[in-house]
Amino acid sequence: MIAASALDLIGSTPLVALDRVWPGPGRLVAKAEFLQPGGSVKDRAARAILLAARRDGRLAHRTPVVEMSSGNMGAGLAVACAVLGHPLFVAMSAGNSPERVKMLEGLGAAVVLVPQVDGVPGQVTGADVEAAAVAARDLAKETGGFYVDQFNAVEGIAAHEQTGIEILEQAGRRVDAWVAAVGSGCSFVGVARRLRAANPATRCMVVEPEGSRPLAGETVRKARHMLQGTGYGRTPPHWDASLMDASIAVSDEEAVHWRNRLAHEEGLYIGYSAAANVCAAVKLMKSGKLRPDALVVTLLCDTGLKY
Ligand SMILES: Cc1ncc(COP(=O)(O)O)c(C=O)c1O
Repeated sequence: MIAASALDLIGSTPLVALDRVWPGPGRLVAKAEFLQPGGSVKDRAARAILLAARRDGRLAHRTPVVEMSSGNMGAGLAVACAVLGHPLFVAMSAGNSPERVKMLEGLGAAVVLVPQVDGVPGQVTGADVEAAAVAARDLAKETGGFYVDQFNAVEGIAAHEQTGIEILEQAGRRVDAWVAAVGSGCSFVGVARRLRAANPATRCMVVEPEGSRPLAGETVRKARHMLQGTGYGRTPPHWDASLMDASIAVSDEEAVHWRNRLAHEEGLYIGYSAAANVCAAVKLMKSGKLRPDALVVTLLCDTGLKY
């Protein structure tokens, strides 16, 4: 089969078993989102938001596209903008890894780096992200561009309902638990919605960085953490609390440990949020709260090449 363009390489990612790091009881499998052309889970939302805006006339032919991004949404947008013929401007916190700037610029995007407010390089806080969002809104005004606004756009969740449909088809059986970290929340919410519709008993577990757990109802004590792209210390605008059973905390040390294990034992070179997802899924499977033959699904959000 010949894909018509890079846009058609987005989605339909495989599920991969993590039998070497979790030999059982039960089975842990992960959706390999790092295989998409922009290298992350965000490609799905990027494509969905741009195609919807073009369809309903909010995004005209050749009009610039503008977004605030930790790098992954930017890369997804850069892929889609290249194919669809839109110039792209990305405002990004300077705390995100330089590899992301390289990739974005390589894909033809213009990157504006926004100084950090209270984070440090490699650890981007909610305040850093808000500063980047302000810069992006200014850029949209200056360029007359379409502001993507990933946190408020509704198309991202619909795009991830498709991820949920794929998981159900690929698993071919009852899914007992779904485990994922939250940035905009689109991937957690979209997938949880579909899995719960198929099996209301599916346990949907959020992953939050230790010390920054508003979804668990905790006051944020430590805004800085390594799980880039997630854990911004605030509840996303389209959050649906009815889909969350509980939150699992993961420390930076655990994320580093699991990132190494996934690389060395599974041959999967992925980022920190993906490693945190696997760490949290293993904690859930060790908890004894699931049936012995449970199938747990998590997300490998992005490639390790971006760090
Ligand atoms: C590395 C990484 N992991 C996880 C996520 C979370 O995805 P979502 O925005 O769907 O919650 C993001 C979002 O940007 C990300 O960049």
